[in-house]
Amino acid sequence: MAHQDCINCKTTYGIDEVVYFCKKCGDILEIKFDPNELAENAKAIEWKTIPLSVWRYRPFMPIHESTRLVTLGEGGTGLHRSERLGAELGIQNLYIKNEGENPTGSFKDRGMTVGVTKAVELGARHVICASTGNTSASLAAYAARAGIRCTVLIPSGKIAYGKLSQAMIHGAKVLQVRGNFDEALEFVFKLSEKHRDIYLLNSINPFRVEGQKSLGYEICDQLNYEAPDRIIIPVGNAGNISAVWKGLTEFYQLGLIKKLPKMTGIQAQGSAPIAQAIQTDSDQIIPVQNPETIATAIRIGAPVSWKKAINAIRESHGTAEIVTDDEILDAQKTLARIEGIFVEPASASSIAGLKKLIKKGVVANDEKVVCITTGHGLKDPDTAIKQSDEPIEVDADIGAIEAALGLKKAILAR
Ligand code: F0G
Repeated sequence: MAHQDCINCKTTYGIDEVVYFCKKCGDILEIKFDPNELAENAKAIEWKTIPLSVWRYRPFMPIHESTRLVTLGEGGTGLHRSERLGAELGIQNLYIKNEGENPTGSFKDRGMTVGVTKAVELGARHVICASTGNTSASLAAYAARAGIRCTVLIPSGKIAYGKLSQAMIHGAKVLQVRGNFDEALEFVFKLSEKHRDIYLLNSINPFRVEGQKSLGYEICDQLNYEAPDRIIIPVGNAGNISAVWKGLTEFYQLGLIKKLPKMTGIQAQGSAPIAQAIQTDSDQIIPVQNPETIATAIRIGAPVSWKKAINAIRESHGTAEIVTDDEILDAQKTLARIEGIFVEPASASSIAGLKKLIKKGVVANDEKVVCITTGHGLKDPDTAIKQSDEPIEVDADIGAIEAALGLKKAILAR
């Protein structure tokens, strides 16, 4: 069976042990499968009959066979060939992996279906997370599905309304902490240590990472087991880039893909400690005290999974880039208008990052690139409305409508 390993001192913990940080050195944990076991499990996958979804890869998930799954049908999101956007940016082979197509509208559902299934397997009746919005929306939905209690801590300041409405309607207890995300996260760590009956489901929880690794598997599956040259991902707390890399390396070890893509992380200016560490060739991050960006989902100054993320970027010979709010908003609008894909600002950072990297000559125009867009545009309708033309109010009269559209007056048939 798989086990939980400390990423630093390699201390091992059992798969059913509730432990969030290494008891010896305090670092975060990851799930490790014995390579032979993984190869054996791969034989159990019904590749031809089970459609694309997180649970297609059930034998690669550290969940007991008899466990009932808490699922809403996550994964199986579109990988959209984006010729028009590619032409606009000057690249031939561009794909958008649109995670906004998940049940609650973000990639978080991949992790939550596994995380909440594990929570119920362990007997938890109360789950908790800190969130910039999407994690709370997803956890609230899966907790509702499982029939267990849910508490979410969100930072003060603006929270995208779409996400907040989801957490609220699913019945979570929503606490808005007077502080930023990093502070809210510290509180949920403390609460879950102090009250052992509350199960922690932030992305340091390695079971969530296991669910999210399916995003890496799925991209390869959709490209006929030919990994792309590069995967570009928005980075906040850094769980997702680490998870996707884990999935890709597992597929590689199994011989299912022959090469590994360059992992490319994008952060927003004002919240970019990982990109800064990569660009300055440092082994440490310098946390940002007061992170700011319009991409509220990734407004994070002290990403917990930074070590895993830096490792993924370096091991894969990838890179990291920083984009401004203006570049993000421009990319959001372009994607919506050229490809018909509406994503929230944080998601658009992958497109903004690609544009910058092509300009800098880092991304070559013949590379096969997959940009991951992480959350649906309706999550943050305010930002979309602010940068679009307002509706024009007209009289209920055909002439008035024609005038507003700049059309010639209709010649009415006699
Ligand atoms: N994109 C969106 C839309 C997100 O909601 C997040 C994270 C990320 C990207 C970054 O992913 O943290 O794994 O690097 N949102 C978290 C939340 C922090 O609370 O919803 P990451």
